Amino acid sequence: MPKQKYYITTAIDYPNAKPHMGHAYEKVIADTLARWHTIKGDDVFFLTGTDEHGQKIEKAAQASGKSPKQFTDEMIIHFKNLCERLNVSYSEFIRTTDKRHTKTAVELFKKVMDKGLIYKGTYSGLYCTGCESFKTDKELQAGLCPDHLKAPEQLSEESYFFKLSEFQQKIIQHIEQHPEFIQPEAKRNEILNRLKEPLKDLSVSRTSFKWGIPLPFDKKHVIYVWFDALLNYISGIGYPTRKFNKYWPCDAHIIGKDIIWFHTVIWPAILLACDIPLPKTVFSHGHITINGQKMSKSLGNVVDPIEMIDKYGADAFRFVLLKDIPPHDDGDFSQENLVARNNTELADALGNLLQRTSVLIHKNFQGNIPVCGKLTQKEKELEDSIPKLDELNALMDSFQWHHVVEKIWAYINRCNKYVNDTEPWKLSNDPERLATVLYTLVEHLRIISILTWPMIPASAEKIAAQIGQKTGKLKDAKFTKKTKGTIAQPQILFKKIETKVQQVQSSVEQKAPAAEDPFSKLNLKVAKIEEVQNHPNADKLYVLKLNAGKEQRQLVAGMKEHYKPEELKGRLIVFVSNLKPAQLRGVESQGMMLAGEKDGKVRVLDPGKAEPGDQVYVEGITPRTEQMTIEDFQKVVLTTKNHIVIYNDKPLKTHNGPIQVELGDGAKIR
Ligand code: MSP
Repeated sequence: MPKQKYYITTAIDYPNAKPHMGHAYEKVIADTLARWHTIKGDDVFFLTGTDEHGQKIEKAAQASGKSPKQFTDEMIIHFKNLCERLNVSYSEFIRTTDKRHTKTAVELFKKVMDKGLIYKGTYSGLYCTGCESFKTDKELQAGLCPDHLKAPEQLSEESYFFKLSEFQQKIIQHIEQHPEFIQPEAKRNEILNRLKEPLKDLSVSRTSFKWGIPLPFDKKHVIYVWFDALLNYISGIGYPTRKFNKYWPCDAHIIGKDIIWFHTVIWPAILLACDIPLPKTVFSHGHITINGQKMSKSLGNVVDPIEMIDKYGADAFRFVLLKDIPPHDDGDFSQENLVARNNTELADALGNLLQRTSVLIHKNFQGNIPVCGKLTQKEKELEDSIPKLDELNALMDSFQWHHVVEKIWAYINRCNKYVNDTEPWKLSNDPERLATVLYTLVEHLRIISILTWPMIPASAEKIAAQIGQKTGKLKDAKFTKKTKGTIAQPQILFKKIETKVQQVQSSVEQKAPAAEDPFSKLNLKVAKIEEVQNHPNADKLYVLKLNAGKEQRQLVAGMKEHYKPEELKGRLIVFVSNLKPAQLRGVESQGMMLAGEKDGKVRVLDPGKAEPGDQVYVEGITPRTEQMTIEDFQKVVLTTKNHIVIYNDKPLKTHNGPIQVELGDGAKIR
C-alpha cells in the first residue's frame, strides 16, 4: 500500500525580533502532529519558515542600522536555532527571500493579473504596520488598531488590487460544505459571520517603501507582504513540480487566531484565482499568556523560549505547552506549572517507571530482558489499559492533543499501579512470575516510548535506548511476548527540580524605569462587578464584590447617585489594585474603582473587551505591584481625549484595546 501523505505547515514568523513563546508553541504543536503522522506511517512533509518582507521588517532593520537582507540573515539564525533546540522535525525551512519563493510569487501574481483578477488603482486608507494590513473604521477601537494599540497611518498610493470580491460566494460555499476547513468550529462561525459583509478588493502592491518582491513589469511596486507570504505554502513544496503535486493540498495549516482571516478568506481566494485546490484544514490555536497577561514588550514579560529550554530541557517545556494550553483557546504559561509537570508526570510517573524497571532487571536478570511466562488477569488488565489507537488518532485528527496526552499518562500511571500491585521486589522466590512481571513492564515501556515520541521525542528515544529497543510505529504499540534485548545501566530520565522558581512576573517588577514615572506606582486592573450592596452606614456608598481574575475584592464606591445597582452588576470596571486597604465608614475597601467626571456627570471607565484580572497599562511604563498610598495616586493626572482615558497623552489600555469613558475631552479621572 502506498503511504498516505500528510502535509502540515506553521505560519511563517516575522523575524523582526527574536522568537518568542508564541512561535515556540506553534512549532511544538505542529511538530507533535507531524511526528504523530510519522509514527502512523504517513509520508509527512512539515514546512515552517520566516516571513521576511514588508514594512515591519524594513523598519526593524533600519532601527538596527542594517540592510533588511543583512538583518533578516542574522535574525533567522535565532529561528532555526529555536527549531533545533526544540527538536522540531521540519522537512523544509522556507524564507520568503529565497529565490524559489520570490520566483513563484511573481509568476502567480502575473498569472492572476493575466486572468483579469488584478487591476491598477489608487488606495487611500489607514494602514497598521504591526498587522501589515489596511484597516476599516469598523475594525478600529477608538481610532486604534485593537491588536497593536496604535493609530494606523493614513496612506494614499497607487496600488494593484486583487478582485477578492469575486470569490466571496465561492469561499462561503466552500466553508459551508467543508466543516473541517476551519477549525475549531467557533472560528468557522466567526469567519462565516464576517463574510456576511461584502468583501472589498484587496490592495496587493505597495509603492511607499522598497523592501518586498518587486513587480518586474512595474518596478516601483513591491508585492503586498501577505500575498507574498501565503504563497510560501506552495513555493515551500516546490510549486509546480512533482513534489508539489504529491503533497498539495495541505492537510493542516497551523496558525494563531490573529491571522485566521488571511488564511481562510484571502488565501483561498488567491488559490481559487490560481486554479489551485484549497487546503483541507486551517486550524487556529489560541494565544499564550504569561502569568495571566498578554506577552508584550511594553509590559516586559516576553519569555525567551531558549531560556526555558536551557533551564528545564526541551521535553519538559514541550510537555507543559501540550498539556496545559488548551488547543482551542488561549492558555497561560508559567514556570511554576512547568516545574510541577516536570516533577509529577515526567519525573515521578514516567522517569520512575523506567528507573524501577531497569534497576530490577539489572538486579535479577543481569540486565537481560527476561522471557515472558504465563500471563495472569493482572497483565490482561494492564494490556486493556493501553490507549485505543483509533481513539488517539481521532483525537489528533480533531486537534485535541491535550486529551491524547491525558490518555497516555493515565496509562503510564496504570503501569505504576501494576508495579505496586505485583510488588516485584518480593518475588525473588518465584523467578518465573518475576520474569513475567518485569517482561511486562519492559513491553509497556516499549509501547510508551512509541506513544510519547511525538510529544517528548528525545526522552522517548532515551526510554527506548534504555530498554535496548528502537522507537517504533503506532502499529507496534501493542503487547507482544517477543521483545528481547539488554537493558542499559539505569539513567535518570527527568531530574526533579527542587528550587522555587523565580516568577517570570518578577522581571516585570525589576524593569521599573530609572527615572520613576509616578504612573509606574499605580497598578490598575480590570474586574467584574459580581454584587452591589448598599453600604450599611453611608447613603451615597455602595459595597461592591469584584471578580478580579485570580482573586475576589471588596470595594467601597461612591456611585449611588450616578448608577442603579443593576447598572453596575455584571459590568467590567478598572480599579486600583495596589491601593492600601482602608476602612470607609466601617467597611474595608480593598482598592478603588476609577470613574471620570465632567460637568457634573460621572461615568465609570469601560475596559471594552477585556477579562477580569487583565492589566491596564500605558505603553513604556511598567506597573509595579507594591502597595501605594492615596497620596501617590493623587500625583497621577488622568484625563480623557476622544473618549479614551489618557496619561501624558498616551492611552491607558489592556491588551484588548484602550480604556474608554463616555465623557467629553478633559474629564477628571478619579
Ligand atoms: N508572518 C505572519 C504569518 C504569515 S503566514 C503566511 C505572522 N507572523 S508572527 O511572527 O507575527 O506570528 C507567527 C505565528 O505565531 C502566528 O500564527 C501567530 O498567531 C503566532 N503567535 C504570535 N503570538 C502568539 C502567542 N502569544 N501565542 C501563540 N501563538 C502566537 O503573523
